[in-house]
Amino acid sequence: MSEIIILAIESSCDDTSAAVCINSKVVSNVMADQKIHESYGGVVPELASREHTKNIIPVVSEAIKKAGIQKKDISAVAFTRGPGLMGSLLVGGIFAKSFAQAMNIPLIDVHHMRAHVLAHFIDEPKPSFPFLCLTVSGGHTQIVLVKDYLNMEVIGETIDDAAGEAFDKTAKLLGFPYPGGPLIDKYAQSGNAEAFQFSIPQIEKLNFSFSGLKTNILYFIQKQTKKNPKFIEKNLNDICASVQATIVTILMRKLKKAAKENNIHEVAISGGVSANSGLRAALKKYGEEFGWKTYIPDFQYCTDNAGMIAITAYYKYLAKDFCEIDIPIQARLEF
Ligand code: KG4
Ligand code: ZN
Repeated sequence: MSEIIILAIESSCDDTSAAVCINSKVVSNVMADQKIHESYGGVVPELASREHTKNIIPVVSEAIKKAGIQKKDISAVAFTRGPGLMGSLLVGGIFAKSFAQAMNIPLIDVHHMRAHVLAHFIDEPKPSFPFLCLTVSGGHTQIVLVKDYLNMEVIGETIDDAAGEAFDKTAKLLGFPYPGGPLIDKYAQSGNAEAFQFSIPQIEKLNFSFSGLKTNILYFIQKQTKKNPKFIEKNLNDICASVQATIVTILMRKLKKAAKENNIHEVAISGGVSANSGLRAALKKYGEEFGWKTYIPDFQYCTDNAGMIAITAYYKYLAKDFCEIDIPIQARLEF
């Protein structure tokens, strides 16, 4: 069989990314992140789509160049159909549709959250089916039961905020720029995780909730700074370590429950929050304790990236799962 070469585009939030895979090997993964949102405390949708418009052509050109291929070699073009910010998705989606039309090649629509799961098939070691994947990002928190490349089911998810939002909103309270998750992680490294206690919600089944924790942290900080205006400054490391430990505990308890209920010993994490050192350490610890084989993608494939769109599209290509050119792009998209 001749080589399958796929150009993939990801633009669901604030990263413009393009990747090329040759068969199942991702040979380029180019990213342009958007610093413009830092001072706003969150992604500003209008600004995000404008930045995508600026970045998309250079990012795609670089991905093609780095892959050492030519446009005419490309077998199919893939894009993130959703979920995400509508204005952002439209830029990547319309680009991919135009490219497919101009080159007369098949178009492949990819679900962003399914792609986060399949990021585990970019590099070795790869999990074996069935496995569990905790997908934790700025917009989502899900436990997915993965039966095959294209056969997966959400068995637990957040009923309100995502884990990444819990990190980012706490970071905002502490005065960090957006996204603050990595900074909480950094300060937590030299803090005492038991210094402060925050609430662990009792949510049924394998679902999560983070909005109560957010309020809990807000009231706690307000109360303490009233007593001592320098509270944050003096206790920054301990606050970060305690918040991080609480979020990690909430996530890991449900992951443990899911593994037990489904009798699964292959456990993976993915999404931006899987870059968190506390979560990584907890996964390793649980792995040793419960005999799990654990998987975490390389850092560049944890956060939003087109490499994961490319690998997902590769498996869809093998299944001849193409889409029509007029497929709607959707901010909310069923799993
Ligand atoms: O998957 P992602 O890049 O984008 C979304 O699809 O949302 O995830 C971004 C999220 C942000 O909330 C960011 O703060 C969080 O991942 N994040 C982290 C860390 N690195 C990224 N949260 C905690 N610790 C980290 N080291
Ligand atoms: Zn994502």
